[in-house]
Parts: sequence; structure tokens; C-alpha cells
Amino acid sequence: MDRRLFLGFTASAAVTAASGSLLSVASATASGRYTARNPLLLNKNENPLGMSSRAIEAAKKALSIGHRYAGDYVTVLAEELALNEALKPQNIGVCNGSTRIIDAVIQNQANKNATIVAPAITYDQAQEATVNWNMAYQAIPMLADFKMDIAAMEIASLKIDGAVLVYLVSPNNPTGRLTPSNSIMAWIKRAPDNVFFLIDEAYHELVSDPLYKSAVSLVKGGYKNLVVTRTFSKIYAMAGMRIGYGIAHAEVMSEIKRYYASWNVNIVAAITASASLKDHAFFKKSFDENQTTKQMVYKTMNKLGLKCIPSEGNFILHEIGMDLKPYQRAMSERHILVGRDRGTGQRWNRLSMGTVEEMTYFIDQFQRLHS
Ligand SMILES: Cc1ncc(COP(=O)(O)O)c(C=O)c1O
Repeated sequence: MDRRLFLGFTASAAVTAASGSLLSVASATASGRYTARNPLLLNKNENPLGMSSRAIEAAKKALSIGHRYAGDYVTVLAEELALNEALKPQNIGVCNGSTRIIDAVIQNQANKNATIVAPAITYDQAQEATVNWNMAYQAIPMLADFKMDIAAMEIASLKIDGAVLVYLVSPNNPTGRLTPSNSIMAWIKRAPDNVFFLIDEAYHELVSDPLYKSAVSLVKGGYKNLVVTRTFSKIYAMAGMRIGYGIAHAEVMSEIKRYYASWNVNIVAAITASASLKDHAFFKKSFDENQTTKQMVYKTMNKLGLKCIPSEGNFILHEIGMDLKPYQRAMSERHILVGRDRGTGQRWNRLSMGTVEEMTYFIDQFQRLHS
């Protein structure tokens, strides 16, 4: 532990007197809270606010019927989700996290001997699944601005004989970048019959770009060549509860449902998800806090001359001004866990957003590291 960090562990009043800065006050207060066993987690794109009080209340009540199967509550949730999207419950598949439905779509395509086409830098779930299901995987390089190269992906898909599964995370993880929705939608509309799309919208609710459009509009338009996946893990802060869902044409959804058990969702998660859907105040708070903390990080990195990729998720891919390993080590010594290597280059890191207080601490420590 270096001396400056050690100062962070001494009485906050002394630090305040020494620096007089608000940042130091917050940092000193926060620093005592984080330990090697209880570090600040800025590494997994979780929602730092924790579940809303309404969600926690609903979860507690749900425990009293934990001896029942979840069926009816999952049906209610599917109806609510369908209503929100002006679709039918038959268009919705609720699962034990969106990962489960992503896997179901991939298994379905593995049975068709599909090759997966995905951008070179993306969430690794599909690539991992290819190992389990022995599928070919083509990673297509991104454009210089970290957007997906839709034209190159389309050309690659056209060269493949047989089934193709295109996996697009929108906005993407770990870049946070949006690829223009119109170019994605136009491709889905003109794709030949052998090409199927898995559109992962895990960060959909956090997007602020007015030009963004969800691919769900294509499901509404009757397209049968896509499944859209969403999750309660991000804006609703329910990552550990494990609940997510897919949206597709009813015929497609009934085929995908053959790949997971209808009772795979637990009753507490289903009831809590229903309560969360109605908690508009928490939804707004999650959205607003994420916007605020991203601005804090952009400002800091800008001041230090380090580049950030503009993010529409709850994380930012940014330059760290040093190699990743020593950076991770230095932050870990300060009891902060930052992202792992995600193939984005040695001097870059994906940072998940914490609360304003947590990011104040992070920023103070980051600046000290670079002073
Ligand atoms: C793009 C993307 N898809 C899916 C997931 C997993 O979501 P879930 O918790 O619903 O399984 C994540 C989690 O970080 C993600 O980033």
C-alpha cells in the first residue's frame, strides 16, 4: 500500500484538513469501507444501487410461497412483458437469466449445424457456447470507431453454406458502442432464409441515443428470423436473482422453448421481476445515476488525456495510460476490482459504473495513480 493510499485509511477529518477538497472527503470516507475481502466491484456490469425497496418487499413476500411452483407467476410476468411491447404472451420466453435463453437459441442453431458470425469484440457467451456445441465461429473485425462492421459481417454470412447465426449485442459489450439501428434492421430484413439473428439487448433500457431502435419492432412486423433477448440484471439490479427473457415470433418462440424447461425460473425472481416492472421511480433513478457516473468518468479521462468510447451501457471502455496487468494490480491494492482482459488492447479497460459515491472514490484513486 503506498503512502497516499494509506492516508485514505486514516481519519477522514485529517485528510479533509490537509486537502480541503470534497473529492478527498468522499474518498477518505469510502476508502475505509473497501477491504481486500470487500472490494469495490467495478468489474461485472452490475447495478450498484441494489434492488429497489419495492423489489425487496416483493421478494420477501414471495418467500412465503416458496413451496409452490412458479408457473402462474411466470405466466403473469410474460403477460406483463408482452403488454409493455404490445405483443402477445406467446411472443415471450421467460428464463433463468437472459443467458439461458441465449444458450437455448444457440443450441437450436447448433442442431442446424449453424456457423456463428459475431463482431470480433463482443460479449463472450456465444463464443463459449460454440465450444460446448462444437460450432464454427467467425469473429469479424470491428470498424476503427468500435462500431460493428455490418457490411463485412453480411459478406461473411453470405459466403457460408448452410445455417448462420448472427450474434449482435446492441449496445455492444465491452465497447458500450451502438451500431446504427437502421443498418442492423435493414440487414435482418433483407437476409436470406439461412441466416438467423440473435439480438442481445441486455443494456436496452440504459440507452439514451434518440436514434436507437430496438429490434423488437421487427418481431412486431412479423419477422421470423430473429430472437431479441433482454434481462432484469441491469437496469432492474436483479443480476443475482437470475431472470431474463426472449422476444420472438410465436412460432419461433415455441421452437426455442423446446430447449429449456418452462419451470426454470424461481418464484421469487418471477414475482420480484413483476414488481420491478412497475417501479418506474427506481427505473428512472437507475437510468439517471448511470448517466451521471458516466459523465464523471468521461470528464476525468478527458482531463487526463485518456480516450473513452462513448457508452450506451452501464460501463465504459477507456484508455488506462498503462498496461492492463499492472493497472489491475494497482487498483486491486486500492481494493477496487476493474475489468479483465476482453481483447480490447493492453492499454484499455472496461470499467463498470458504481454509484456516484463509489465513482468519486474510484476517480480519486485513478487520479492519484496517474499523478
Ligand atoms: C451483453 C450481455 N448479454 C447477456 C448478459 C447476461 O445477462 P443475464 O444476467 O440476464 O444472464 C450480459 C451480462 O453482463 C451481457 O453483458
